[in-house]
Amino acid sequence: MNQDRKTIIAGNWKMHLNVHQSSLLLHRLHENIRVHRDIEVVLAPSMLSLQPLSLELDHRKFKLASQDAYFKDEGGYTGEVSFAMLGEMVQYGIIGHSARRIYFGETLEMVRDKVQAAVRCGIAPIICVGETKQERDAGETKQVLHDQITTALQNLTSRDIEGIVVAYEPVWAISTFDGVIARPDDVEKSIAFIRMQIRELYGQKASERVRVLYGGSVNEHDVRGYLEIPGVDGALVGAASLNYHQFAAIVDAAYQLRLKA
Ligand code: 13P
Repeated sequence: MNQDRKTIIAGNWKMHLNVHQSSLLLHRLHENIRVHRDIEVVLAPSMLSLQPLSLELDHRKFKLASQDAYFKDEGGYTGEVSFAMLGEMVQYGIIGHSARRIYFGETLEMVRDKVQAAVRCGIAPIICVGETKQERDAGETKQVLHDQITTALQNLTSRDIEGIVVAYEPVWAISTFDGVIARPDDVEKSIAFIRMQIRELYGQKASERVRVLYGGSVNEHDVRGYLEIPGVDGALVGAASLNYHQFAAIVDAAYQLRLKA
């Protein structure tokens, strides 16, 4: 972990919890998580819960992220919500999650346009990248990461880049309840490769400033191992973020690691 910048622990609640349940979980998290100066705790509830949570939460303790949004600011795009509409409510926006790419056909170019829309609206993108099992087995991991990173970061300034967060989420390691998890040395290699791509595009300084998270079956037992990998600045947590004991323990592990460093 880099001591110069804050560690991010983000919880992606995916399509779980209605407004009432989200509010209850926020309340439990509030009781169980303290304010840590060096740690940003980011919650990504469903679109429906963003607004009520933004009014309820303690802004010293939590930040909000959308799980997705559309790249146009307004218009006849029935069913969509734009980053422009979220601007007042969220500090971060998850973009290009593998669920969006796989289930909703989100292309490299759509991810790029969403990154630009978020930046334009003052929302820091959390860009998800990562290879599927099939791509990994075919030895295509680097090519996939290269294509995802270079397209997503097109047409940004070096200054824009510094506020961006990339989450490396190997698709084969997401929500695996059967024990398949990413090995730290694999994660380290992919994250070094991601930073190298950013360095080639935007230079050394930008590649050092971008925060890179790991995501994929992170829980309170293995989070420490991932946070200790060189180049990792935090975690994007799915299932374990829906359980306040587990998520609070993950935040605490990140805090203990900062204290020790
Ligand atoms: P899990 O932690 O449930 O594997 O989900 C990871 C993820 O997709 C976070 O965005």
